[in-house]
Amino acid sequence: MCGIVGYVGGKQAAPFLLDGLKRLEYRGYDSAGLAVYDGRKLVMRKTAGRLQRLADIVAESPLPGRLGIGQTRWATHGRPSDINAHPHPDCRGQIAVVHNGIIENYSSLRQWLKERGHRFLSETDTETIPHLIEEYYQGDLVAAVRQTVARLKGSFALAILSAREPDKIVAVRQGSPLVAGLGDEENYLASDIPAILPHTRQVYILEDGEMAVIQKESIQVTDFRGHPHAKEVFQVHWDPVMAEKGGYEHFMRKEIHEQPRALRDTLTGRLDDNDMVDFGEMKVFTPERLKAAKRIYIVAAGTAYHAGVIGKHLIEKLARVPVEVDLASEFRYRDPLLTEGDLVIVVSQSGETADTLGALREAKRLKIPVLAITNVVGSAVSREADDVIYTWAGPEIAVASTKAYTTQIITLTLFALHLAVLRGTLDPEERRMLVRGLRELPQKAEEVLSREETVAGLAREFARREDVFFIGRGLDYAVAMEGQLKLKEISYIHAEAYPAGELKHGTLALIGDGVPVVALATQETLEDKMVSNITEVLARGARVLALAAANDGRIAEVAHDVVPIPDIHPLLRPTLAVIPLQLLAYHAAVARGADVDKPRNLAKSVTVE
Ligand code: M6R
Repeated sequence: MCGIVGYVGGKQAAPFLLDGLKRLEYRGYDSAGLAVYDGRKLVMRKTAGRLQRLADIVAESPLPGRLGIGQTRWATHGRPSDINAHPHPDCRGQIAVVHNGIIENYSSLRQWLKERGHRFLSETDTETIPHLIEEYYQGDLVAAVRQTVARLKGSFALAILSAREPDKIVAVRQGSPLVAGLGDEENYLASDIPAILPHTRQVYILEDGEMAVIQKESIQVTDFRGHPHAKEVFQVHWDPVMAEKGGYEHFMRKEIHEQPRALRDTLTGRLDDNDMVDFGEMKVFTPERLKAAKRIYIVAAGTAYHAGVIGKHLIEKLARVPVEVDLASEFRYRDPLLTEGDLVIVVSQSGETADTLGALREAKRLKIPVLAITNVVGSAVSREADDVIYTWAGPEIAVASTKAYTTQIITLTLFALHLAVLRGTLDPEERRMLVRGLRELPQKAEEVLSREETVAGLAREFARREDVFFIGRGLDYAVAMEGQLKLKEISYIHAEAYPAGELKHGTLALIGDGVPVVALATQETLEDKMVSNITEVLARGARVLALAAANDGRIAEVAHDVVPIPDIHPLLRPTLAVIPLQLLAYHAAVARGADVDKPRNLAKSVTVE
């Protein structure tokens, strides 16, 4: 899921490729590899671990050649290892492929290819691609790639070499970024501009559904059927630091904007044509065990804990199993009443949080099965849990968690659906409506992101304040908790989240003239109650920003400002409602001149208790 580079020209490819991958190191990876055409054949070097290890291997056994591709891998299918590192070859070693993304239908393709005599070496989804190209190759690499792409489902950015046509790289983009760089008597390929920035500032940004044939003196872009696409050259004006952030000023904003793609990847391969959830990766959490579950504990820290609170609502509502959500730092020390029939789910972006790991170990000590929901393949929780579901959000670099949170929510939603179907607690029509909503979610997230300017304007007002209150009920309260954490951790504005009905039991005393209150009111069933709570704070002089369902006129009537949340199944609204809150925190922090990506006193991965 990480970095791709490619080179074709008159210079040595390997140093270019290693340098390009080095420039993508900041994105995180677990293994790396290169394939270079040495004048007679393709030669590959790949290894798990740091890029320096690959550079040492190449220094020991050099890779001469003027055409090559390379990749830093961030494991999705198959653990980080030498053999799972990219590039992947076909049976004869004449084709090499690197891939960012996920091939959703790899398992049926792999089976089909095996039946046709292809031999597989790795556990990856990617390896199906060189074998498919080999299967279709009849003297024309581009034609074989086109036929291959027609069989792939999922998201992919590909770079392909063939020893039989050693004058080109074929690049394909579907759902994962790629750019082709224009040089002088040489051309380049990269998943991200920083990789090639020292060599060119002129690039073609490939769009989904485009292929490029990159040769020393030309770059030809077509659609997947071979129709030429006229491309405009994009002139890169970014400095190298800005380029790492994809042109955004901060990783956090980049990651907020990556959410539609991240959500798509989380859903990839997990919903079948009958609108059923496919969690083939769960081996210990079998249907029998899930059907018999007496109680579920969700244990996590920080933002992941807030995702867990949403998970509780969804699991209890859809599958009717009691759920307790615990802060990981508390769980171990409260002597939890875990008994046979209970299940534990730990949620962690990094998979390395000491508190969460401690909770996992405590559950295992008590012989309770543990499922990990994490973003990082090979992380400690993924290794120690009985089962793992990866969120596939892609590397998250900003300390403030954004895309990890929304993908955790969606993973928990899928889990709740799966459990509900197994336990027979969900009406099939309701399931279809929810699945339809899930499929629409990435596009609706884009719709919310298009309102960024409005939210930024509001944030500049918030930036002047020292206290902000977030209120909501039910699922909205869970989102309010995340909204307040985002605001305080990066802007240092004091923020509190309250269940809206609790204000009158104490906190209302703090509401006075001009105090900003963010009211989450996305659930129709709680609309009357929220209107009353908003009126309560208005009566004390609060300035109310409401997040309400797009078709909700009553909230808009009472609040000073409203950010509408696109129409979608009510249970899916938290994923959309949190996006304006992430943007609000981000723009307030920028307005206050805070170090957005590295807030004071905080670390991305908290590996101490
Ligand atoms: O890697 P994890 O999800 O286990 O991390 C948990 C928390 O440390 C993390 O969510 C933290 O609260 C973030 N800074 C929130 O943005």
